[in-house]
Amino acid sequence: MESVTDDQELLNQSATFGAMTEASSLDWKIVAAHNRAFAADVAERVLDHLRLLEGDCGGFAVDRLEHSVQTATRAYRANKSDEYVVCALLHDIGDTLGSYNHQDVAAAILKPFVSDDHLWMVEKHAIFQGYNFFHHLGLDRDMRDQFRGHRAYDLTIEFCQEFDQTAFDPSYTSMPLSEFVPAVEAVFADPKNSIYLTDDGQMAGTNS
Ligand SMILES: [Fe+2]
Ligand SMILES: [Fe+2]
Repeated sequence: MESVTDDQELLNQSATFGAMTEASSLDWKIVAAHNRAFAADVAERVLDHLRLLEGDCGGFAVDRLEHSVQTATRAYRANKSDEYVVCALLHDIGDTLGSYNHQDVAAAILKPFVSDDHLWMVEKHAIFQGYNFFHHLGLDRDMRDQFRGHRAYDLTIEFCQEFDQTAFDPSYTSMPLSEFVPAVEAVFADPKNSIYLTDDGQMAGTNS
C-alpha cells in the first residue's frame, strides 16, 4: 500500500502533460493517486444520483425513489444479504439516463462490486419484470423464457415477483434511504472486477 504521506504528496501535485504520449511515470502516479481518492467517494455519488429519482412518478402511484427504497426495504425485511439489498435499491437508478435500457445503466454501475448472479439479476430484471405487464402493451410477457435454465433465472424471478413488482404501494412504510447508506458504502468499497485492478486486486498505480 502507498503510505498516506506518499499519497498526500502526490495529491498536492498535478500532471503536466498535454498529450498522454508525453506523460511520465510520475505523471501517472499523480493521476492514479487522485483517482484512488476520487473513487473512494463513489458510493456518495451513486447515492446522489439515486436521489435524482425523487419527485418523478412516471405515472405510478409512488415516485421512482420511493419505488427503489420500497424494493430495498422489502428485500431487507425478507432477510436478503446486504449486497442483494443494495442491488434492489439501485436496480432502477438508470431511469434518469437510460430511458430505453435503464437496467444496463444499473448493471454497469454495480458490475465491479457484486457477484455474477446479482449482476445478472439487475441486468435482466427489466425483461423479467415484463412478465407482469408486457401483455398490456402488446409485448411478449414470456420474453424471460429465453433464459430458462440460467443459474440466476429463479433468483431473478424472485426479485421481480417478491420485491420489484410489489413496490409501488403508497401505503407501505419503507425504511428511510439513510438506513441503506452503510450497506451501499460497504459494497462500493470493495471492487472485485475492473480492468484497473492488478493481479493482486489493488487499484493500478498503488505501490505495494
Ligand atoms: Fe426496472
Ligand atoms: Fe423497479
